Amino acid sequence: MSVRRLVTIIVLLLGAAAPAHAAAPPDRRAEALVARMTLDEKIQLVHGVTLCFIPIGDFPGSDRSLRGDGFVPGIPRLGIPDINYVGAGAGVTNCGARENGRSTVLPSPLARASSWSPELAYGAGALLGTEARAQGFTTLLGGVSDLIREPRWGRAFETLGEDPVLNGTLVAAELRGVQSRKVVATIKHYAVNNQETGRETHTVEVDERALRELHLLPYEIAVPASGVGNVMCAYNRVNGVYACENDMLLNRILKDEFGFQGQVQSDWGATHSTVPAALAGLDEEQFTSEFFGDALKDAVQRGQVSIERLDDMVRRKLRSLIAVGVLDDPPPSPGPVDAARGVQAAERIAEQSLVLLKNDGAALPLRRSLRSIAVIGSHADVGVLSGGGSAQVSPIGGPAVPPECDPETPGGGPCPVWVPSSPLQAIRAAAPRAAVRYADGDDAPALAARSDVAIVFAHEWRSEFEDRTDLALPDGQEALIERVAAANPNTIVVLETGGPVTMPWAGRVRAVLEAWYPGSGGGPAIARTLFGDVNPAGKLTVTFPRRLDDIPTGPAPPSDGDAIPYAEGLLVGYRWYDAKRIAPQFPFGHGLSYTSYRYSDLRVEPGRVSFAIANTGRRAGSEIAQVYVGLPRQAGEPPKRLVGWVRTELRPGETRRVSVAIDPARLWVWDGGWKLLPGDYDVYVGASSRDIRLRARGLVD
Ligand code: BGC
Repeated sequence: MSVRRLVTIIVLLLGAAAPAHAAAPPDRRAEALVARMTLDEKIQLVHGVTLCFIPIGDFPGSDRSLRGDGFVPGIPRLGIPDINYVGAGAGVTNCGARENGRSTVLPSPLARASSWSPELAYGAGALLGTEARAQGFTTLLGGVSDLIREPRWGRAFETLGEDPVLNGTLVAAELRGVQSRKVVATIKHYAVNNQETGRETHTVEVDERALRELHLLPYEIAVPASGVGNVMCAYNRVNGVYACENDMLLNRILKDEFGFQGQVQSDWGATHSTVPAALAGLDEEQFTSEFFGDALKDAVQRGQVSIERLDDMVRRKLRSLIAVGVLDDPPPSPGPVDAARGVQAAERIAEQSLVLLKNDGAALPLRRSLRSIAVIGSHADVGVLSGGGSAQVSPIGGPAVPPECDPETPGGGPCPVWVPSSPLQAIRAAAPRAAVRYADGDDAPALAARSDVAIVFAHEWRSEFEDRTDLALPDGQEALIERVAAANPNTIVVLETGGPVTMPWAGRVRAVLEAWYPGSGGGPAIARTLFGDVNPAGKLTVTFPRRLDDIPTGPAPPSDGDAIPYAEGLLVGYRWYDAKRIAPQFPFGHGLSYTSYRYSDLRVEPGRVSFAIANTGRRAGSEIAQVYVGLPRQAGEPPKRLVGWVRTELRPGETRRVSVAIDPARLWVWDGGWKLLPGDYDVYVGASSRDIRLRARGLVD
């Protein structure tokens, strides 16, 4: 008997899912499973029972938790696997101190967004999915797509920037990448979760137009485009109602209008009620059973929540596990990740994520003939910084600097973790004939004075739970940069920041390279960029203001008041600087290259913009060309909005005609419903939001 025939017979004997069954649509299969469940089994599936390594309550099966961020025990008799959740913005996290819990640290999401590349986002998602699955997880909790409204937001590094179309497009690609590896992906925090200060209690007061055109738009784009299985609702209230019991946000907009078919899961501790939350569309409570355990069972038995609604919660969870492939092929037993592969991928991604902000007199790339190089500050001898909170990753190889706290704890540990990827070593490798020395303190200016070039690494740590109060580089680093620049006119600054910082020192240095939190391949990616092995192509997805006074939310620290009025309305990010005619330090969309590009020959047709880009320099490079539209004056919109972009690679001297499709929805305004207004539309094509190279009227007759 052939092996195949034997297997078929065994499968038939066991009564396991027959091929015909597996081919049924996920919803139908999920319904069939729900029909076979007891009430207790249904309740078991709609709440968490652990937090990292801590069991929450006395539930059978909680000892099977893989020590991720959350756990819902499966139902073996129905073939429903354990559901293990783990965080992943920059990499798979390890709040439960798992034995095999070290993972690749990718550049932070904000860094990756600077590539403006859906392909890169997909690849990053696929790597996150691969590493999560290798560690036994069914569901990833990455995918922040809230806008950077508050530049001091502690979690700015976890999201993609200040533009809703860019956020929605890139996060959709990342979520598809995650789910391509048989791991359910998450998009969060729905909705309007834009600061840490007071996040668990405050209400965001936002008008409907700003809500629709800005804050919900990333979800409107990404939910249908990705087929994401999990939406995490936010801690905060929106116009008075908690996001996790908000009928308008969950039932009416997310599920009915955006067509979301998966489950809505509360952020950890963001459930506030049983009946209102269940009726408003919440499908799972994390991380406890306070509201969706016995209390929900009771509410169902009393008829306050219908059994159909409970069935819907369970069906939504199962249909995503089925659609993504987890049910038929659950993750293997946990093992270590493929570190060598991860670090290589992280390095390639970092190379596309760096943004060259300033480069006076072609100070960069550095010449290999340099005889002496001073490398200064930020533990650049051993590593690069990573972001904290629930997005904190335990890096492969362990922290490069002994951390002052235990990062493998619930919440990620309140201290910086340095990833072992040494810029100093990579610079030494790139310039083998130079004397490359490191200094971290008072001796830095003296070292700079006797070196051909001084490279100052400056950092700014951000983390969930805490916003910054200003945008200055902390810990005396501004003074350090000034002292080094005074000692050596050939000073270059490499930033490792979680968001924008102010740079009163910018005029005193020759070049500034924004490396963000660059991850496990950060050291080599920085060195290869400094020496021109990589031609930087990243562009900012968040405005860098000149002064704290200029930011849309005002200079006072983020408010911990009960209500946060979103008084800026539509003027989030570059829209504010454009409307108020404030010159930023570095605008949205800005990023330099070691070559130069010329734009020409703009043609505008309905739904399409095309133009030519020429590489006019002597190096190959990739240019991210951006298309903005100014709406008719009567629309009352900010001067322009991003509607599309293209990233194109060009050899020296090469000219290429590129075409950008413009989705008609990108021109709409919200006025009780989406509307296209008649009138004249201005089309701007630029190398940044403030470097417009071509303009025309058109798009709508
Ligand atoms: C965060 C979520 C995270 C959850 C679980 C919360 O504090 O807001 O983004 O997924 O913890 O770690």
